[in-house]
Amino acid sequence: MSFTVTNQRNDASFTTNPDETILDAALRDNRIFPYGCRSGVCGACKCTLVSGTVDYGEHEEFALTDEEKQAGKMLICQAVPLGDVVIDVDEVMSGQNIQIKILPCRVGKLERLAEDVIRLYLALPKSQEFNYIAGQYIDILMKDGQRRSFSIANQPAVSKEQGLEIHIRHVPGGHFTPRVFESMKERDLLRLEGPFGTYFMQTEVDRPIIMIAGGTGFSPVKGLIEHAMADNPDYNIHLFWGARDQQDLYLDNLAREWTETYPNFKYTPVLSDSSSDSWTGATGWVHETVADSYQDFGGVDVYASGPPVMIDAIRESLSSKGMQSDHFFFDSFDYAPQD
Ligand SMILES: Cc1cc2nc3c(=O)[nH]c(=O)nc-3n(C[C@H](O)[C@H](O)[C@H](O)COP(=O)(O)OP(=O)(O)OC[C@H]3O[C@@H](n4cnc5c(N)ncnc54)[C@H](O)[C@@H]3O)c2cc1C
Ligand code: FES
Repeated sequence: MSFTVTNQRNDASFTTNPDETILDAALRDNRIFPYGCRSGVCGACKCTLVSGTVDYGEHEEFALTDEEKQAGKMLICQAVPLGDVVIDVDEVMSGQNIQIKILPCRVGKLERLAEDVIRLYLALPKSQEFNYIAGQYIDILMKDGQRRSFSIANQPAVSKEQGLEIHIRHVPGGHFTPRVFESMKERDLLRLEGPFGTYFMQTEVDRPIIMIAGGTGFSPVKGLIEHAMADNPDYNIHLFWGARDQQDLYLDNLAREWTETYPNFKYTPVLSDSSSDSWTGATGWVHETVADSYQDFGGVDVYASGPPVMIDAIRESLSSKGMQSDHFFFDSFDYAPQD
Protein backbone atom coordinates (compact mmCIF):
# COMPACT_ATOMS: atom_id res chain seq x y z
CA MET A 1 0.00 0.00 0.00
CA SER A 2 0.97 3.62 -0.45
CA PHE A 3 1.32 5.84 2.59
CA THR A 4 1.77 9.54 3.21
CA VAL A 5 4.90 10.86 4.87
CA THR A 6 4.62 14.34 6.37
CA ASN A 7 7.68 16.25 7.50
CA GLN A 8 6.62 18.39 10.45
CA ARG A 9 9.70 20.61 10.00
CA ASN A 10 8.22 22.25 6.86
CA ASP A 11 4.78 20.63 6.68
CA ALA A 12 5.60 19.04 3.31
CA SER A 13 4.10 15.65 2.35
CA PHE A 14 4.98 12.95 -0.13
CA THR A 15 3.80 9.42 -0.83
CA THR A 16 5.66 6.11 -0.64
CA ASN A 17 5.10 3.24 -3.06
CA PRO A 18 4.51 -0.25 -1.61
CA ASP A 19 7.67 -1.46 0.19
CA GLU A 20 9.53 1.74 -0.67
CA THR A 21 11.83 3.33 1.90
CA ILE A 22 11.13 6.86 3.08
CA LEU A 23 14.41 8.04 1.54
CA ASP A 24 13.70 6.54 -1.90
CA ALA A 25 10.23 8.11 -1.91
CA ALA A 26 11.66 11.48 -0.86
CA LEU A 27 14.32 11.39 -3.60
CA ARG A 28 11.67 10.44 -6.15
CA ASP A 29 9.77 13.54 -5.02
CA ASN A 30 12.96 15.63 -5.51
CA ARG A 31 13.43 16.19 -1.76
CA ILE A 32 16.90 15.91 -0.32
CA PHE A 33 17.25 14.87 3.31
CA PRO A 34 20.68 14.17 4.82
CA TYR A 35 21.96 10.71 3.84
CA GLY A 36 25.12 8.85 2.84
CA CYS A 37 25.60 5.11 2.29
CA ARG A 38 21.95 4.10 1.67
CA SER A 39 22.66 0.75 3.28
CA GLY A 40 21.98 1.24 6.99
CA VAL A 41 25.64 1.59 7.97
CA CYS A 42 26.74 5.23 8.25
CA GLY A 43 23.84 6.67 10.31
CA ALA A 44 23.79 9.92 8.29
CA CYS A 45 20.06 9.57 7.53
CA LYS A 46 18.96 9.14 11.16
CA CYS A 47 15.90 11.21 11.97
CA THR A 48 12.88 11.34 14.27
CA LEU A 49 9.69 9.35 13.75
CA VAL A 50 7.11 11.65 15.37
CA SER A 51 4.07 9.42 14.84
CA GLY A 52 3.06 6.25 13.00
CA THR A 53 4.94 2.97 12.65
CA VAL A 54 7.64 1.73 10.31
CA ASP A 55 9.50 -1.45 9.48
CA TYR A 56 13.03 -0.37 10.51
CA GLY A 57 14.65 -2.59 7.85
CA GLU A 58 18.15 -4.06 7.97
CA HIS A 59 20.85 -1.94 9.52
CA GLU A 60 23.97 -2.13 11.63
CA GLU A 61 23.34 -1.99 15.37
CA PHE A 62 25.88 0.83 15.79
CA ALA A 63 24.10 2.91 13.11
CA LEU A 64 20.80 2.72 15.06
CA THR A 65 20.73 1.26 18.55
CA ASP A 66 17.68 -0.20 20.30
CA GLU A 67 17.74 2.76 22.72
CA GLU A 68 17.63 5.16 19.79
CA LYS A 69 14.65 3.29 18.30
CA GLN A 70 12.87 3.54 21.63
CA ALA A 71 13.67 7.26 21.64
CA GLY A 72 11.87 7.57 18.30
CA LYS A 73 14.80 7.48 15.89
CA MET A 74 14.97 5.61 12.57
CA LEU A 75 17.17 5.36 9.48
CA ILE A 76 15.11 6.65 6.56
CA CYS A 77 17.29 4.80 4.01
CA GLN A 78 15.92 1.55 5.49
CA ALA A 79 12.59 2.46 7.12
CA VAL A 80 9.42 1.48 5.23
CA PRO A 81 6.16 3.02 6.54
CA LEU A 82 3.45 0.64 7.78
CA GLY A 83 0.86 3.44 7.69
CA ASP A 84 0.86 7.22 7.36
CA VAL A 85 3.78 8.70 9.30
CA VAL A 86 5.00 12.07 10.52
CA ILE A 87 8.74 12.61 10.60
CA ASP A 88 10.97 15.45 11.70
CA VAL A 89 14.01 16.16 9.53
CA ASP A 90 15.82 19.12 8.03
CA GLU A 91 15.34 19.27 4.27
CA VAL A 92 18.85 19.94 3.01
CA MET A 93 17.94 21.43 -0.29
CA SER A 94 14.91 21.47 -2.48
CA GLY A 95 14.15 22.86 -5.89
CA GLN A 96 17.47 21.66 -7.37
CA ASN A 97 17.00 19.74 -10.55
CA ILE A 98 18.80 16.63 -9.30
CA GLN A 99 17.32 13.56 -10.92
CA ILE A 100 18.71 10.15 -10.09
CA LYS A 101 19.34 8.31 -13.35
CA ILE A 102 20.74 5.03 -14.56
CA LEU A 103 23.06 5.71 -17.50
CA PRO A 104 25.63 3.87 -19.60
CA CYS A 105 29.09 5.44 -19.58
CA ARG A 106 32.41 4.84 -21.27
CA VAL A 107 35.83 4.86 -19.62
CA GLY A 108 37.31 7.92 -21.35
CA LYS A 109 40.68 7.95 -19.63
CA LEU A 110 42.33 5.68 -17.08
CA GLU A 111 45.31 6.92 -15.11
CA ARG A 112 47.39 5.29 -12.34
CA LEU A 113 47.88 7.95 -9.64
CA ALA A 114 49.60 5.67 -7.10
CA GLU A 115 50.35 1.99 -6.76
CA ASP A 116 46.84 1.36 -5.43
CA VAL A 117 44.86 4.33 -6.79
CA ILE A 118 43.43 4.69 -10.29
CA ARG A 119 41.64 7.74 -11.66
CA LEU A 120 38.89 7.13 -14.21
CA TYR A 121 37.08 9.68 -16.33
CA LEU A 122 33.64 8.41 -17.28
CA ALA A 123 32.08 9.85 -20.44
CA LEU A 124 28.28 10.06 -20.37
CA PRO A 125 25.99 9.98 -23.42
CA LYS A 126 25.94 13.47 -24.98
CA SER A 127 22.15 13.32 -25.28
CA GLN A 128 21.68 12.93 -21.50
CA GLU A 129 21.69 15.64 -18.85
CA PHE A 130 23.40 14.53 -15.65
CA ASN A 131 23.02 17.20 -12.98
CA TYR A 132 24.79 16.84 -9.66
CA ILE A 133 26.23 18.95 -6.87
CA ALA A 134 30.01 18.88 -6.26
CA GLY A 135 30.76 16.29 -3.54
CA GLN A 136 28.02 13.79 -4.49
CA TYR A 137 28.70 10.19 -5.51
CA ILE A 138 27.64 7.63 -8.10
CA ASP A 139 27.13 3.88 -7.94
CA ILE A 140 28.80 1.65 -10.53
CA LEU A 141 26.30 -1.10 -11.36
CA MET A 142 27.75 -4.53 -12.03
CA LYS A 143 26.22 -7.19 -14.23
CA ASP A 144 25.55 -9.47 -11.23
CA GLY A 145 23.36 -6.82 -9.59
CA GLN A 146 25.96 -5.60 -7.08
CA ARG A 147 26.89 -1.93 -6.89
CA ARG A 148 29.82 0.07 -5.56
CA SER A 149 29.85 3.75 -4.65
CA PHE A 150 32.48 6.26 -5.81
CA SER A 151 32.62 9.98 -5.15
CA ILE A 152 32.79 12.43 -8.02
CA ALA A 153 36.10 14.32 -7.90
CA ASN A 154 35.40 17.12 -10.33
CA GLN A 155 32.79 19.85 -10.36
CA PRO A 156 29.81 19.94 -12.73
CA ALA A 157 31.21 22.89 -14.73
CA VAL A 158 34.21 20.82 -15.89
CA SER A 159 32.87 17.27 -15.91
CA LYS A 160 30.72 18.00 -18.96
CA GLU A 161 33.98 18.28 -20.94
CA GLN A 162 36.27 15.96 -18.95
CA GLY A 163 33.78 13.25 -18.00
CA LEU A 164 33.00 12.31 -14.39
CA GLU A 165 36.27 11.90 -12.49
CA ILE A 166 36.46 9.12 -9.88
CA HIS A 167 39.39 7.85 -7.78
CA ILE A 168 39.40 4.13 -7.01
CA ARG A 169 41.52 2.53 -4.33
CA HIS A 170 42.44 -1.13 -4.82
CA VAL A 171 40.88 -3.35 -2.13
CA PRO A 172 42.66 -6.73 -2.37
CA GLY A 173 40.10 -9.54 -2.63
CA GLY A 174 37.32 -7.05 -3.35
CA HIS A 175 34.52 -7.77 -5.78
CA PHE A 176 34.93 -4.72 -8.01
CA THR A 177 38.18 -2.82 -7.53
CA PRO A 178 40.60 -5.66 -8.51
CA ARG A 179 38.91 -5.73 -11.94
CA VAL A 180 39.67 -2.06 -12.40
CA PHE A 181 43.34 -2.68 -11.69
CA GLU A 182 43.68 -5.96 -13.60
CA SER A 183 41.55 -5.68 -16.72
CA MET A 184 39.74 -2.36 -17.16
CA LYS A 185 40.82 -0.29 -20.14
CA GLU A 186 39.88 2.90 -21.94
CA ARG A 187 36.64 2.70 -23.96
CA ASP A 188 35.18 -0.04 -21.70
CA LEU A 189 31.46 0.36 -21.12
CA LEU A 190 30.00 0.61 -17.60
CA ARG A 191 26.65 1.47 -16.09
CA LEU A 192 26.16 3.95 -13.31
CA GLU A 193 23.36 5.28 -11.15
CA GLY A 194 23.32 8.65 -9.42
CA PRO A 195 23.93 11.21 -8.24
CA PHE A 196 23.56 10.34 -4.55
CA GLY A 197 24.44 11.79 -1.17
CA THR A 198 24.35 15.10 0.64
CA TYR A 199 28.06 15.70 1.09
CA PHE A 200 28.07 19.11 -0.53
CA MET A 201 28.82 22.66 0.61
CA GLN A 202 26.25 23.82 3.13
CA THR A 203 28.32 26.63 4.49
CA GLU A 204 27.86 30.35 4.93
CA VAL A 205 30.88 31.95 3.25
CA ASP A 206 32.01 33.67 6.46
CA ARG A 207 32.38 30.42 8.47
CA PRO A 208 35.89 28.94 8.22
CA ILE A 209 35.97 25.39 6.90
CA ILE A 210 38.07 22.44 7.96
CA MET A 211 38.20 19.63 5.41
CA ILE A 212 39.58 16.24 6.30
CA ALA A 213 40.29 13.53 3.74
CA GLY A 214 41.42 9.98 4.44
CA GLY A 215 43.01 8.18 1.44
CA THR A 216 40.65 8.40 -1.55
CA GLY A 217 38.40 10.55 0.66
CA PHE A 218 40.39 13.23 -1.18
CA SER A 219 38.15 12.63 -4.22
CA PRO A 220 34.96 14.44 -3.06
CA VAL A 221 37.09 17.02 -1.23
CA LYS A 222 38.74 17.89 -4.55
CA GLY A 223 35.30 18.44 -6.10
CA LEU A 224 34.17 20.55 -3.12
CA ILE A 225 37.29 22.74 -3.10
CA GLU A 226 37.36 23.31 -6.86
CA HIS A 227 33.68 24.19 -6.84
CA ALA A 228 33.94 26.47 -3.78
CA MET A 229 37.01 28.30 -5.10
CA ALA A 230 35.47 28.81 -8.54
CA ASP A 231 32.60 30.48 -6.71
CA ASN A 232 34.71 32.51 -4.27
CA PRO A 233 38.53 32.17 -4.30
CA ASP A 234 38.69 33.83 -0.85
CA TYR A 235 37.09 30.90 0.97
CA ASN A 236 38.86 30.16 4.24
CA ILE A 237 39.61 26.43 4.01
CA HIS A 238 42.14 24.30 5.88
CA LEU A 239 42.57 20.88 4.29
CA PHE A 240 44.07 17.97 6.23
CA TRP A 241 44.85 14.87 4.16
CA GLY A 242 45.64 11.68 6.06
CA ALA A 243 47.44 8.83 4.32
CA ARG A 244 49.75 5.99 5.22
CA ASP A 245 52.87 7.01 3.30
CA GLN A 246 53.97 9.83 1.01
CA GLN A 247 53.05 8.00 -2.18
CA ASP A 248 49.45 7.68 -0.91
CA LEU A 249 49.08 11.48 -1.13
CA TYR A 250 48.41 10.81 -4.76
CA LEU A 251 47.59 14.42 -5.78
CA ASP A 252 49.81 16.16 -3.24
CA ASN A 253 51.12 18.61 -5.88
CA LEU A 254 47.60 19.75 -6.68
CA ALA A 255 46.86 20.48 -3.01
CA ARG A 256 50.17 22.39 -2.74
CA GLU A 257 49.25 24.40 -5.85
CA TRP A 258 45.99 25.46 -4.18
CA THR A 259 48.00 27.00 -1.31
CA GLU A 260 49.70 29.24 -3.87
CA THR A 261 46.57 30.08 -5.85
CA TYR A 262 44.11 30.82 -3.04
CA PRO A 263 45.02 33.35 -0.31
CA ASN A 264 43.04 31.69 2.51
CA PHE A 265 43.73 28.04 1.72
CA LYS A 266 45.94 25.96 4.02
CA TYR A 267 47.08 22.36 3.51
CA THR A 268 48.40 19.90 6.09
CA PRO A 269 49.25 16.39 4.89
CA VAL A 270 49.54 13.81 7.70
CA LEU A 271 51.26 10.42 7.37
CA SER A 272 50.36 7.57 9.71
CA ASP A 273 53.03 5.13 8.59
CA SER A 274 55.84 7.08 6.98
CA SER A 275 58.95 5.07 6.15
CA SER A 276 60.92 8.04 4.84
CA ASP A 277 63.46 10.01 6.90
CA SER A 278 63.03 12.94 4.53
CA TRP A 279 59.38 13.52 5.59
CA THR A 280 59.28 16.63 7.77
CA GLY A 281 55.49 17.08 7.83
CA ALA A 282 52.91 15.92 10.38
CA THR A 283 52.78 12.28 11.43
CA GLY A 284 50.23 10.16 13.31
CA TRP A 285 46.46 9.91 12.94
CA VAL A 286 44.90 12.71 10.96
CA HIS A 287 42.09 13.35 13.50
CA GLU A 288 44.68 13.89 16.23
CA THR A 289 46.60 16.40 14.12
CA VAL A 290 43.37 18.26 13.37
CA ALA A 291 42.33 18.28 17.04
CA ASP A 292 45.77 19.58 18.09
CA SER A 293 45.74 22.34 15.46
CA TYR A 294 42.90 24.40 16.94
CA GLN A 295 41.70 25.23 20.44
CA ASP A 296 38.00 25.28 19.66
CA PHE A 297 35.86 23.91 16.81
CA GLY A 298 32.68 25.80 17.76
CA GLY A 299 32.92 28.41 15.01
CA VAL A 300 33.89 26.20 12.06
CA ASP A 301 32.23 23.82 9.63
CA VAL A 302 33.91 20.44 9.32
CA TYR A 303 33.73 18.32 6.16
CA ALA A 304 35.23 14.82 6.32
CA SER A 305 35.36 11.92 3.86
CA GLY A 306 37.11 8.58 4.00
CA PRO A 307 37.14 5.35 6.01
CA PRO A 308 34.37 4.87 8.62
CA VAL A 309 36.89 4.59 11.48
CA MET A 310 38.32 7.98 10.59
CA ILE A 311 34.86 9.58 10.50
CA ASP A 312 34.02 8.13 13.93
CA ALA A 313 37.35 9.29 15.38
CA ILE A 314 36.84 12.82 14.03
CA ARG A 315 33.31 12.98 15.42
CA GLU A 316 34.50 11.93 18.85
CA SER A 317 37.63 14.03 19.12
CA LEU A 318 36.29 17.27 17.61
CA SER A 319 32.90 17.10 19.40
CA SER A 320 34.80 17.14 22.66
CA LYS A 321 36.43 20.39 21.49
CA GLY A 322 33.21 22.21 20.58
CA MET A 323 32.32 20.97 17.08
CA GLN A 324 28.54 21.20 16.66
CA SER A 325 26.85 18.14 15.17
CA ASP A 326 24.90 20.25 12.66
CA HIS A 327 28.17 21.72 11.41
CA PHE A 328 29.72 18.31 10.75
CA PHE A 329 29.23 17.05 7.19
CA PHE A 330 30.67 13.69 6.24
CA ASP A 331 30.82 10.91 3.67
CA SER A 332 31.74 7.64 5.30
CA PHE A 333 33.20 5.20 2.75
CA ASP A 334 31.33 2.24 4.21
CA TYR A 335 31.76 -1.11 2.51
CA ALA A 336 28.82 -2.28 0.47
CA PRO A 337 26.73 -5.01 2.15
CA GLN A 338 28.16 -8.41 1.15
CA ASP A 339 25.70 -10.48 -0.93
C1 LIG B 1 29.27 7.11 -0.23
C2 LIG B 1 30.51 6.31 -0.57
C3 LIG B 1 31.49 6.87 -1.37
C4 LIG B 1 32.64 6.14 -1.68
N1 LIG B 1 33.59 6.73 -2.46
C5 LIG B 1 34.74 6.05 -2.74
C6 LIG B 1 35.77 6.67 -3.53
O1 LIG B 1 35.64 7.81 -4.01
N2 LIG B 1 36.90 5.96 -3.76
C7 LIG B 1 37.09 4.68 -3.26
O2 LIG B 1 38.16 4.11 -3.49
N3 LIG B 1 36.12 4.08 -2.51
C8 LIG B 1 34.96 4.73 -2.25
N4 LIG B 1 33.97 4.11 -1.52
C9 LIG B 1 34.16 2.68 -1.15
C10 LIG B 1 33.76 1.81 -2.35
O3 LIG B 1 32.37 1.97 -2.62
C11 LIG B 1 33.96 0.28 -2.16
O4 LIG B 1 33.47 -0.13 -0.92
C12 LIG B 1 35.39 -0.15 -2.25
O5 LIG B 1 35.93 0.32 -3.46
C13 LIG B 1 35.53 -1.68 -2.20
O6 LIG B 1 34.88 -2.29 -3.30
P1 LIG B 1 35.23 -3.79 -3.73
O7 LIG B 1 34.04 -4.32 -4.47
O8 LIG B 1 36.55 -3.87 -4.42
O9 LIG B 1 35.40 -4.55 -2.35
P2 LIG B 1 34.26 -5.38 -1.57
O10 LIG B 1 33.89 -6.61 -2.35
O11 LIG B 1 33.17 -4.44 -1.21
O12 LIG B 1 35.03 -5.77 -0.24
C14 LIG B 1 35.79 -6.96 -0.10
C15 LIG B 1 36.29 -7.09 1.33
O13 LIG B 1 37.17 -6.01 1.66
C16 LIG B 1 36.65 -5.26 2.78
N5 LIG B 1 36.80 -3.86 2.37
C17 LIG B 1 36.02 -3.20 1.48
N6 LIG B 1 36.45 -1.93 1.30
C18 LIG B 1 37.52 -1.80 2.10
C19 LIG B 1 38.40 -0.72 2.39
N7 LIG B 1 38.22 0.49 1.81
N8 LIG B 1 39.40 -0.93 3.26
C20 LIG B 1 39.56 -2.11 3.86
N9 LIG B 1 38.76 -3.19 3.65
C21 LIG B 1 37.76 -3.03 2.78
C22 LIG B 1 35.19 -5.65 2.94
O14 LIG B 1 34.82 -5.70 4.30
C23 LIG B 1 35.14 -7.03 2.34
O15 LIG B 1 35.41 -7.99 3.31
C24 LIG B 1 32.81 4.81 -1.19
C25 LIG B 1 31.80 4.25 -0.40
C26 LIG B 1 30.67 4.98 -0.09
C27 LIG B 1 29.59 4.36 0.75
S1 FES C 1 22.55 4.64 7.27
FE1 FES C 1 21.10 5.58 5.98
S2 FES C 1 22.31 6.66 4.57
FE2 FES C 1 23.79 5.57 5.74
